[in-house]
Amino acid sequence: MPSSTSLKATKESIHFVEADVHYADICTALDAQAFDSNNYPYDVMRTLLASPNTLALVAMSGDGEPVGHVLCALAREMCDLLTVCIVPSLQGQKLGRLLLDETMMRLKARGVESIFLEVRQSNMSALGLYRSVGGCIVGERKDYYKNADSTTEHASVIEISL
Ligand SMILES: CC(C)(COP(=O)(O)OP(=O)(O)OC[C@H]1O[C@@H](n2cnc3c(N)ncnc32)[C@H](O)[C@@H]1OP(=O)(O)O)[C@@H](O)C(=O)NCCC(=O)NCCS
Repeated sequence: MPSSTSLKATKESIHFVEADVHYADICTALDAQAFDSNNYPYDVMRTLLASPNTLALVAMSGDGEPVGHVLCALAREMCDLLTVCIVPSLQGQKLGRLLLDETMMRLKARGVESIFLEVRQSNMSALGLYRSVGGCIVGERKDYYKNADSTTEHASVIEISL
């Protein structure tokens, strides 16, 4: 995978690949680039991607480079959004919205009616993304995130109805 700063992508050039276990390296690297901590380690990512109940999409640039991904755990008409990210150098250019729109379309086609997820209450870009697709705060999990310095942060629980 090239360095995040050398990547180029436009909304028009992005395409999506449904990822299986063979994408474990790519998805682990994408997660590690986007999250300071609490990113999924390789073994967990591999297990998630091997599950028939996971929908994972990797967003590819026109050059075929991975620029973001999303993993969802399906449970009949509900699903948990486990992780979503865009490489840091391409954030804020509407690619996250493009990826989430595509994910919502594919989940709806599989009969999913609601997506649930947790988000740090300080994560303004993620909160903006979920708000932009009609997501609503439906709960709070206190001290859900443990930081490396032993502090904690509350999570908001978001529901996105499809
Ligand atoms: C969260 C993330 C996936 C969003 O992707 P992105 O490509 O940066 O976001 P987009 O440019 O597509 O913006 C999507 C919407 O969020 C809004 N948004 C983006 N950044 C924002 C910010 N800092 N503050 C408020 N709103 C913001 C945009 O205005 C846009 O809304 P609109 O469609 O109504 O204009 C991306 O920033 C990321 O990978 N962050 C690190 C990993 C992470 O935190 N993942 C979420 C875990 S819950």
